[in-house]
Amino acid sequence: MSIRDVLVTGGAGYIGSHLVDALVAREYRVTVLDSLVPQVHRSGAWPSYANPKATYVQGDVRDRAVFEPLVRASQAVVHFAAAVSIGQSMYQVDRYVDVNTRGTALLLDILVNTTHAVEKVIVASSIGVYGEGAYLCPTHGVVAPTIRPEGQLAARDWEQHCPVCGLHVASVPTPEDKALYRDNIYSMTKYHQEEMVLLIGKTYGIPSVAPRFFNVYGPRQSLSNPYAGVAAIWLSRLLNGRQPVVFEDGGQLRDFVSIHDVVDCLVLMLEHPGADYLPVNVGSGQTVTILEIARMLARLLGVSIEPEVTQAGRRFDIRHNTADIGRARETLGYAPKVPLEQGFAELIDWAKSTPDAAVDFFDTALDELRQKGLLINS
Ligand SMILES: NC(=O)c1ccc[n+]([C@@H]2O[C@H](COP(=O)([O-])OP(=O)(O)OC[C@H]3O[C@@H](n4cnc5c(N)ncnc54)[C@H](O)[C@@H]3O)[C@@H](O)[C@H]2O)c1
Ligand SMILES: [Zn+2]
Repeated sequence: MSIRDVLVTGGAGYIGSHLVDALVAREYRVTVLDSLVPQVHRSGAWPSYANPKATYVQGDVRDRAVFEPLVRASQAVVHFAAAVSIGQSMYQVDRYVDVNTRGTALLLDILVNTTHAVEKVIVASSIGVYGEGAYLCPTHGVVAPTIRPEGQLAARDWEQHCPVCGLHVASVPTPEDKALYRDNIYSMTKYHQEEMVLLIGKTYGIPSVAPRFFNVYGPRQSLSNPYAGVAAIWLSRLLNGRQPVVFEDGGQLRDFVSIHDVVDCLVLMLEHPGADYLPVNVGSGQTVTILEIARMLARLLGVSIEPEVTQAGRRFDIRHNTADIGRARETLGYAPKVPLEQGFAELIDWAKSTPDAAVDFFDTALDELRQKGLLINS
């Protein structure tokens, strides 16, 4: 049997909604299960971009009575519903584990204990499962240091050291087989979700894939959610005439990938078996410092606001992590297309045309981090 009905949990959210559009365009019948959490959907209603050709069910992925019949009516489940902020997960521990880990456990329990026709499960994993990225020591080759100790952050010694010889090491793209370290509760739950789905998938022969998203950016990204990604947070600051706040010295390397490339990769995962039973990095393969991103956003917006470089560290932050996208290229033929400047110009056009997209709640979130003792040198 082939896939016709696709269930997208979290399909009212940012990545899910773009995937819903792509699936509808490819004539899948799409059902969305989403609880419309207030932090993401401030109006409490389905977003204006909800696709009229998809079916929308408001409900929680922890509620079996809602989730089970939807799973059983589908041939594919894309599981994106999740609580998504690293910082917040460090003080809302119960909620993060409950939504992310237990929600996924319930999905798997349904798959294992009911009759269904699901032949593909895609679960959203994250760059967070790596902790620090991969590094190269001139003497010891590719190494995988752990998160920097508090004393190192306090000394503003931002760069990583080789775990063997202690010398400074340079960032290199991270392959999927790098040792995994989880440095915050959110990333632990992403790791649980990925491991559980791949394990049950392999055990019961249900093809499953765990895309490890790097920094996804693009229209519909929540700009008002201070717990969302850095690009969104800075854009909302700039739109409100305020300086983007950059932690450390701004030299942190990341991989920003356009939502359009992400959706292309997800469709490949759904339609092709190449990446079945694997975690797969989903990035652009382009490496950039976060200070460059903050400056690029201001330039593209046409404002002359310099970022505020705080030289403060956050206890759970990693220094560098960029994507080795070889596995997605080789197993799926994934070929990211959107250059960074073009993708950010699109994000900005969207933000400007959506005036209520950007209410700046960043200071409140920063205060929460400070109160919990998670900021160093601040
Ligand atoms: N955006 C990124 O850069 C990024 C990076 C790595 C991983 N991810 C993962 O990708 C997935 C989608 O992320 P996003 O950026 O689109 O987030 P998002 O917050 O925009 O979307 C998540 C959606 O899930 C819904 N939701 C939350 N809890 C729910 C629950 N208990 N029951 C039902 N629905 C619930 C929310 O209402 C929201 O619509 C998440 O699993 C996230 O962890 C995203
Ligand atoms: Zn070394």
